[in-house]
Amino acid sequence: MGFDGRRVVSFESRRAQEMADLITRHGGEPLSAPTMREVPIEQNAEALAFAERLFGGGFDAVILLTGVGTRMLAKAVETRHPRERFVEALKGVTTVARGPKPVAALREMGLKPTLLVPEPNTWRDLLTALDRHVPVSGRRVAVQEYGQSNPELIDGLRGRGAEVTPVPVYQWALPEDLGPLRRAIQEIIAGRVDFALFTSATQARHLFQVAAMDGVEAQLRDGFRRVCVGSIGPIASEAIAEQGLKADYEPDSPHMGELVRDLARRGGDLLLKKRTASERGIDTHQWRRVDMAWGTEAERRRTTADSAFMRACRREKTDYTPIWLMRQAGRYQREYRELRAKVSFLDLCKTPDLAAEVTLMAVDRLGADAAIIFADILLVLEPMGVGLEFSKGEGPVIHNPVRTAQDVDRLREVEIDELSYVFEALRITRQALRPDIPLIGFAGAPFTVASYAVEGGGSRHYEHTKGLMYRDRGAWHALMERLTRLLTGYLNGQIAAGADAVQLFDSWAGCLSPDDYAEFVLPHVQRLINGLTKPTSVIYFATGNPSLLELMKQAGGDVIGLDWRVDLTDAWARLGDDVAVMGNLDPIALLASPNEIHRQAQRILDKAAGRPGHIFNLGHGILPGTPPEHAAALIDAVHELSAR
Ligand code: CP3
Repeated sequence: MGFDGRRVVSFESRRAQEMADLITRHGGEPLSAPTMREVPIEQNAEALAFAERLFGGGFDAVILLTGVGTRMLAKAVETRHPRERFVEALKGVTTVARGPKPVAALREMGLKPTLLVPEPNTWRDLLTALDRHVPVSGRRVAVQEYGQSNPELIDGLRGRGAEVTPVPVYQWALPEDLGPLRRAIQEIIAGRVDFALFTSATQARHLFQVAAMDGVEAQLRDGFRRVCVGSIGPIASEAIAEQGLKADYEPDSPHMGELVRDLARRGGDLLLKKRTASERGIDTHQWRRVDMAWGTEAERRRTTADSAFMRACRREKTDYTPIWLMRQAGRYQREYRELRAKVSFLDLCKTPDLAAEVTLMAVDRLGADAAIIFADILLVLEPMGVGLEFSKGEGPVIHNPVRTAQDVDRLREVEIDELSYVFEALRITRQALRPDIPLIGFAGAPFTVASYAVEGGGSRHYEHTKGLMYRDRGAWHALMERLTRLLTGYLNGQIAAGADAVQLFDSWAGCLSPDDYAEFVLPHVQRLINGLTKPTSVIYFATGNPSLLELMKQAGGDVIGLDWRVDLTDAWARLGDDVAVMGNLDPIALLASPNEIHRQAQRILDKAAGRPGHIFNLGHGILPGTPPEHAAALIDAVHELSAR
């Protein structure tokens, strides 16, 4: 369980014991290597010397590089002198702020910098701004530094004829006793460490500073290829990246407990990936997950075919009930939201590297038994020329809805290559994904895609869709045939690109009566499923109308996806033993407590009663407000409760 006895190095100092206890509690063997010692503010000798000289008129200009450093400098000076004196002295010289953070620190003292360096505030921008506005030749310049010096800047200033005095301010120094840190460095180099946990940026800098002192920087960096690196948050990850490493995991919120808990849960898989990559000669410090290489395609296929998910699709016995979640990559995840702040949804879908990254990220974080390619059921509509847009807040909008026979005739004939970005995303994902995790391709079923095309977006009553259906059967079937042909080619393209199974989402078919479904929908779905490349497992999913189950089975899928409104035992009894089922927890249950989630998972597993051919899932997509740790709790509960 948890870390399973693996060795976990922690670089935490002040809370080293707490960290060690956490690691032990999660089944790991802790190795404490404190990296830092807090330096009392009044011990900042350089800062005090700087103040004396400033008061004596010994500087013409002061360059402030960081906000934290500027504040610490002021605090250090204040241990000996009244603040007003420092503020007055700064008013008498040229002050240069590298960016908005030192500006904010100066503002707190009631000061405004003489010069603000423009974005992106690099040392080059700083020198350019000085050259333009306050040339430094012959002037006496102090440079506030925090954490690290910037030799390029100092050289640049000296090269321009300035007399430069660096003013380092410290909050953290190396620990008095470097023994434990040195030992940890040797253990990493020797390959005897599995996980390394960074809980601050300074830890990464100090670790490599000590390695540099001992002349083993390169070996240490190399040793990290076999170590799974956990980082408390983005600032620590940046410092880790500055050292030429890559953080393999960051928790959703920056808490030690969360970092240890998540890595204990998912770390085994992350470690496997990293070590396999390292063995295959992939530079894991530079790698993107998509660079992964696992083995020959034949081996890969055998492993995938024998996975719990694929076996369940074929109604074979499995060691536990496989589970994945519809919409498992999406807005409920911090990492997804961060990415979406930079890229639109459509661009995300159309950039295969990113779509692959999002697909893989969901599996890495959740530990689901299958991946589903990141895409959308409406992508096929875009090249048909209906004016698809994913608008903020409103969801998908179709600007030129298809309402008449003429509209159907006007639809553009789509070349399947126009959707090749989805195939490319599948190819990349399949290569990067662990062989024992199947990759699911998907499409909307013809009715559900048609209903979007006809309504122009989501709908409550489907009046336009049913209107067209009842008024003009010819036009309706023509539309369904066009979509069926396109969707068959689209799914076969996905299968060729590496999808191990495919799912048809008929999310809105439940709005139909059984008779209408049988007449207007079923023949098209049958044709579609019949046209798919064999032997690929096909999941057919619909919501909202248990009366359709027997008809849905006639469509020919291997697995029927159930929503939560139907009792799993009843549904399976009606469907019969010759088909597998997927489902069917109410997605809202994931908003409840982990205890309740556990209880509900048990209830559904009881209904499936261990019969081969059950894939656990939600009854519909996961909601954006779901706490990610609840999704994880469901997955763990299903694995634990169903282990046979
Ligand atoms: O399951 C997965 O993780 C794969 C990705 C996936 C998405 N959409 C991504 C997505 C899948 C399988 C779908 C299917 C889909 N798309 C369906 C059928 C399943 C269902 O939920 O009924 C439907 C009806 C759509 C159409 C669609 N796409 C709607 C209604 C919306 C807006 C509402 C919403 O939930 O956001 C989308 C956008 C969409 N598709 C998002 C995602 C992650 C959100 C986009 C964003 O703002 O980041």
